[in-house]
Amino acid sequence: MKEIQIGKNGITSSELCLGTMYFGIKVPEDESFRLMDYYFEQGGRFYDTANKYATWVPGFPEPVGELMLSRWIKSRSNRNEIQIATKMGFPYGDVPQGLKKELIFQEVDKSLKRLDVEQIDLLYAHTDDYSTPQEEYMEAFDSLVKAGKVKALGASNFYAWRMASANEIAVKNGWTPFSCTQARLSVLWPKVNANFGRQLPVTPEVLDYCKVQDVALLCYSPLLQGFFGRTDRDMPAEYDTPQNNEIVTLFRDAAADMNVSANTLVLSWMREQGMIPLITGSTMEQIKENIDSLDCRLDSGISDKIASLYYPHRE
Ligand SMILES: NC(=O)c1ccc[n+]([C@@H]2O[C@H](COP(=O)([O-])OP(=O)(O)OC[C@H]3O[C@@H](n4cnc5c(N)ncnc54)[C@H](OP(=O)(O)O)[C@@H]3O)[C@@H](O)[C@H]2O)c1
Repeated sequence: MKEIQIGKNGITSSELCLGTMYFGIKVPEDESFRLMDYYFEQGGRFYDTANKYATWVPGFPEPVGELMLSRWIKSRSNRNEIQIATKMGFPYGDVPQGLKKELIFQEVDKSLKRLDVEQIDLLYAHTDDYSTPQEEYMEAFDSLVKAGKVKALGASNFYAWRMASANEIAVKNGWTPFSCTQARLSVLWPKVNANFGRQLPVTPEVLDYCKVQDVALLCYSPLLQGFFGRTDRDMPAEYDTPQNNEIVTLFRDAAADMNVSANTLVLSWMREQGMIPLITGSTMEQIKENIDSLDCRLDSGISDKIASLYYPHRE
């Protein structure tokens, strides 16, 4: 697995990041360690977590995701070989939602402690905060970079115009801008009124902004729970449109011809588009299929046909 630049700030990411949201929670810790080991053995170095993982799961009122990752890192003595991305800004327990300066400092110190590391490689604002001036949160994030607690910054669940104004403020003041975004992004567009709670689906403007400004695009929920390649799950209702069904059929037909999973081809197509998918899974078979996407490629005719259905048209 190759390392690629993330935006303009000099940090890199593996071509596929590993999402650890349910590791140590829905996936038992010993199995999670095996999955993280396999990703590492395949050259993967980028592990994604968040300060609140996964406090919405019954039985896990306290965040345990960062603690689990920390135990794995210690047991493998590999801190200097991997990169850790974590996030703050969503509420959990008695921690409110938002990006107020004091909250940013408090939550980053807690993450550093739980992870038991001196520096977070990539810190995301997990969500935007319209009630805090962007100057306040960009300055706070920058001071963490200057203090060495954080290496680079990302924005998750942001609209394009808000990333643009935050980055403009940062650049004007000599502060660190967001070098990437983490968006809810697959190969299908959700219906315009789709409701994903606090998660913000990607918009065409985000794709355009990232391309023009060289902001890296990391994609969460790329497989929409794996329904592309399994018969026990339907297309989520929020995505069920004639155009999306056409795209899914193209992936499934190509997968049958190539004797691979349609999930593998979805990830392969996303990488081909310059996106960085956050892969995950609850079994070794799933993780293997997802990493196999590095070795397979769609026929260019089919890939172009998917692109013509996927990308907004313009003359
Ligand atoms: N920034 C944010 O707001 C945000 C939000 C959500 C997620 N994330 C990050 O993104 C990561 C991935 O998100 P996600 O869990 O929503 O991703 P996803 O790709 O939509 O779903 C993952 C699930 O799909 C199934 N699956 C995965 N690979 C499969 C395969 N090859 N064959 C069949 N089924 C497969 C598994 O379900 P089963 O386990 O049920 O079999 C797996 O748990 C998370 O771990 C987290 O790090 C970030």
